[in-house]
Order: sequence, then C-alpha cells, then structure tokens
Amino acid sequence: MKVMKIEGGNTLSGTIKISGAKNSSVALIPASLLADSDVTICNVPEITDTDVLCEMLEYLGADVRRASESVVISPEKIENKVIPKEFTSKLRASYYFMGALLGKKKHVEIYLPGGCSIGARPIDLHLKGFESLGATITNEGEKYIVDAKELNGANIYLDIASVGATINIMLAAVLAKGKTIIDNAAKEPEIVNIATYLNNMGARITGAGTSEIRITGVEKLHGCFHEVIPDRIEAGTYVIIGALIGKDLNIYNIIPEHIEALTSKLQEMGVPLKIESDSIIVSSKDEYKPSRIKTLGYPGFPTDLQQPFSVLASKCNGKLIVQETIWENRFMHLPELEKMGMKTEKNGMIATFVGPNKLVGCEVKATDLRAGAAMVAAALVAEGTTTITNIEHILRGYEGIVEKLTDVGAKIKIEEI
Ligand code: EPZ
Repeated sequence: MKVMKIEGGNTLSGTIKISGAKNSSVALIPASLLADSDVTICNVPEITDTDVLCEMLEYLGADVRRASESVVISPEKIENKVIPKEFTSKLRASYYFMGALLGKKKHVEIYLPGGCSIGARPIDLHLKGFESLGATITNEGEKYIVDAKELNGANIYLDIASVGATINIMLAAVLAKGKTIIDNAAKEPEIVNIATYLNNMGARITGAGTSEIRITGVEKLHGCFHEVIPDRIEAGTYVIIGALIGKDLNIYNIIPEHIEALTSKLQEMGVPLKIESDSIIVSSKDEYKPSRIKTLGYPGFPTDLQQPFSVLASKCNGKLIVQETIWENRFMHLPELEKMGMKTEKNGMIATFVGPNKLVGCEVKATDLRAGAAMVAAALVAEGTTTITNIEHILRGYEGIVEKLTDVGAKIKIEEI
C-alpha cells in the first residue's frame, strides 16, 4: 500500500506551474473518437484518470501516443465494442464514451461509471438528453445499451445545470441531423474548452459558457490541434495552500478569472494575494477573518474547492461555514480533520469549522480526491508528521503533486508500506 508522508510546518516559496485541467481532459480524450483523422491534445495532465481514458480509447481500436504533455490520437480504427466494468468503474468520466460513441456509431454498450463516492451521482439527465435526440436506452443489469437509428437535433432543457450532462449531450449532438439547443446548460470553463475542441474539429457550437448552447449538426469531424485550459481546481488548491503556509508562493500558468469566487473570498478574509494576468502570488498570515461559503455551479464557489478551503479555519479567528449544495456526501474529510485537531460541526449540508486551532500530524485517510487535497493542505501546516492513506484518490487528480510541493520547500514523499 502506498501512503503519503508529510512533515508539516515548512514555509513554501517559489513557483508552482499548474497543469492542464483534469475535468477538461477527461472529456477531450473520449471526444477524440468523433474525429475522422488525427487529433493532438496539448497540456494533458499525466494522472491516472487520463491514463485510464487513453487505455479505453486503445481498447476501442484507436492509436494513442503520449509525448510528454501532448497526446496524439488516431481514431480512424475505432470499433464499437462493449466497454467493460474494469474500465468504467475506475472513473466517473468514463461516461463521456456514451455521448461520443452514440454520436459517432449510434450505438453504445457500457457499464455504469465509477468515481468518488461524494453523492448519488445519477445520470438521468444524460440519458434524457440522448432520448430527446432519438436514442432508446435499455439496461441489462449494470450495462446500459444506448441505440439510435439516427440522431436528430432537439430542444433539451436540463433540470439541473449538470456539467456531465451538458458535455455528453454536446458530444452526441455534434453529428446529429439539425439543430440542438441545450437550455440551462452548465457554464463551467471546461465546457467552453470542450466546445472549442469540437469546433476545431469542424463542429458548429455556439453559446458555450452561457446557459443556452446551440449546436448545428455536421456530417463529419476532422482532426485538429487543441490546448487544454489550466486546471482551476489544482490552481485553487495551491492558492489555499499558499494562504496556509506560503511566502510569495507563485501559482503560475493559470487563468485567474476562473477562480475569482475563491480569490475574492480569500481577499475578504485578509489573505494577501497579488493577482497577475497568468499567476497569483500568495503569502500566509497568522490570522484570518471568519468566512462563509456556499458551493454553486460556475461562476459560483466550486464544490471541488470547499474541502481544501475548510482547512483555512485553522487560522480563522472564528467560524468558517461551508454550505454544500451539489454533492450530499462531500464532508467525509471532517472526521479526518478532527483527528488533526480541527473542531467541526455538521448539520445536513452545512459544516462549521471552528477556528483557530493548531493542527497536529497523525494518520488520516483521503476519502475522496478533494478530501485528499484537504489532507495534504492540513498536513503541510500541521505540527509533526502526517501519514495519508488511500492516496490513489489524490493521484487521480493532481499531476506531480509530490514534485511540485517538494520544489517549493515541502517535506513530502510517497512510501510503500
Ligand atoms: C463534474 O461532475 C466534475 N467531474 C466534478 O468534479 C464536479 O464536482 C462537478 O462537475 C460539479 O462541478 C468531472 O468533470 C469529471 P454534475 P459531474 O453533473 O459532471 C446532479 C472532482 O473533484 N445530477 O454537474 O458528475 C448531481 O447529482 C469532481 O474533480 C443529476 O441529478 O457533476 C449533482 O448534484 C468530483 N442527474 C449535480 O447534478 C444527472 O444526470 C451536479 O452534477 C447529472 C447530475
């Protein structure tokens, strides 16, 4: 078993370069099969989630070549095979093969997706979208069979502005006949990045980044060259770490506007931030003002940052209150933080962290990806050594986390025990 060991209390200074966005890359890779010739995607993070998706493309018959940060995919020989549970159970984003294969081959057989246990995570809106385009859906146990004689554009209203459903419907609709309108679409920057990718292939999508996306179907998509946007959640995590224990820590290669919900909160609390065009320089202080956040879809405060953000309570002169509105099970980090000395209370979807408190290293578990990021943040500021178990969750989402933190002065290593 692999564990992460962190000796806390070392001030972090220097530069951390942010990688390409996980949540863009995990859709861009499956979307590649829609093209009829080679695609090159630059700035793809080397994390286990992107590795698994590349393996899935290879399993379907694509040729996938990785050269440092770029992935070159030749999708010409894609076949329509059943996508087994061994792949899909490893990550949520495996469901993007549904939209992409439906769009390209009009037929998909795929098992239920896996991923972090942060809530029920239904896919009813994805399926409703496919049905509106003319597909029929049947289940054989845990296997979904999605089939269409042809796909026709439709007006689709999403009850919830779901990131996954918006992307999956775009993937299925780009090669459909006629016009599709997705109303109450999610507006996350990753959606804009994926729409840009599809447009680079020859798709006709407008409105991505607003709540109404319009897609005019085309007959074919061709290869292209595309760049993944910087990972706003990775960037936000390191900015939070800087606010905990940084001295002029430079978080670089980012789009600061993408994490404005976080940076404006940090500034309210008194965190010294210098925001440049593609970087944020952050230093820590001993005491911050109490704060309150509510997670929302973009441009609101991202649910993916609330867990690391809560660690700032250790320096708050009062309460830090987190209201989670997206995932009902995203407070699994509370008992782990309590082991380190954090005082917490939970009432339904609202968690209260009572600061200030001194965190002390001990053994804690990364219960999910962003809870794992919270453990890393807490361990870096804690006194003594913290051992984090279940680190496979962390490695799914943070490229080179050990190297990046070591380079700025952290004492962190992965050990096999
Ligand atoms: C994406 O998940 C991200 N994952 C999540 O990041 C992120 O937390 C989430 O968006 C919200 O920003 C990827 O991009 C791979 P949703 P997704 O569909 O697409 C409900 C991380 O840590 N819903 O926007 O699965 C759902 O239950 C991960 O990197 C339905 O009810 O999220 C949730 O309450 C974790 N029916 C809400 O909508 C559906 O068919 C938003 O989910 C779909 C969703």
